[in-house]
Amino acid sequence: MNEEIRVWDPLVRIFHWSLVIAFFIAYLTGEEEGSLHIWSGYVVLGLISFRVVWGFIGTRYARFSDFVRAPTVVIDYLKRLAENRPRHYIGHNPAGGWMVVLMLVTLFVVTLSGLKLYAVEDGLGPFAGPPVTVTLISAARADDDDDEEYGEFGENEAEGEEFWEEIHEASANFMLFLVLLHIAGVIISGRLHDENLVKAMITGKKKVRPETP
Ligand code: HEM
Ligand code: HEM
Repeated sequence: MNEEIRVWDPLVRIFHWSLVIAFFIAYLTGEEEGSLHIWSGYVVLGLISFRVVWGFIGTRYARFSDFVRAPTVVIDYLKRLAENRPRHYIGHNPAGGWMVVLMLVTLFVVTLSGLKLYAVEDGLGPFAGPPVTVTLISAARADDDDDEEYGEFGENEAEGEEFWEEIHEASANFMLFLVLLHIAGVIISGRLHDENLVKAMITGKKKVRPETP
């Protein structure tokens, strides 16, 4: 049977491949002090925010209600997968569905901690206070001799910076790990179900095969 069905709408596909590009640019420019890192990070934040909205109002297979399933369903899917007789799903399979959720949540942690870091480190971005406050606090702290060992911003600011830097870096690395698992999952489940999932994420279409009830 060579009939094809449209699964991923154009917005899901544009979202996906833009996310791949923006994520790798952000990851690779993290160590540099440059606007490319900040802007690619904002693009990631914009894309995932869009995807959450689309998960509620988007097309059939883009909706969370289509692929976020009860834990029992996920366990059953994995059991049958281990027995090499996996159930077939048209959209995301139950394990892949939770992976999508985990990736989106992790990307929110990465980008929001990035914004916090941007605020405490550079005094910029939406989480930074009004410039006048920063000036007043800095001026007040500059008078305080106890703060010398922490530099001009004082102990709290130095700790805040370290804290958000740790969260930002750890979550970015965890995300990279998830991406590697995600790519492995795409390759393995593509083989098990005899489908070209990468092509489907480009053209939007999959071969028609009924979902296993
Ligand atoms: C998916 C998106 C992002 C990824 C993968 C990412 C990744 C990274 C990595 C790996 C580092 C280096 C961490 C270190 O060595 O301490 C970093 C640093 C940083 N990131 Fe992000 N980031 C992202 C989004 C953002 C956003 C949205 C912002 C703020 C608007 C941001 C602000 C920063 C800042 C200020 C630094 C410290 C740069 C420095 O001082 O050298 N990041 N990021
Ligand atoms: C070049 C490497 C990548 C390939 C080949 C790839 C491939 C795919 C494929 C085939 C799907 C559909 C899976 C299915 O049919 O169930 C998918 C979904 C997804 N991928 Fe990737 N991916 C890659 C990199 C990434 C990266 C770097 C991220 C995140 C930073 C990511 C995030 C996602 C998300 C969130 C979905 C769910 C799409 C949706 O429902 O909107 N992928 N990917």
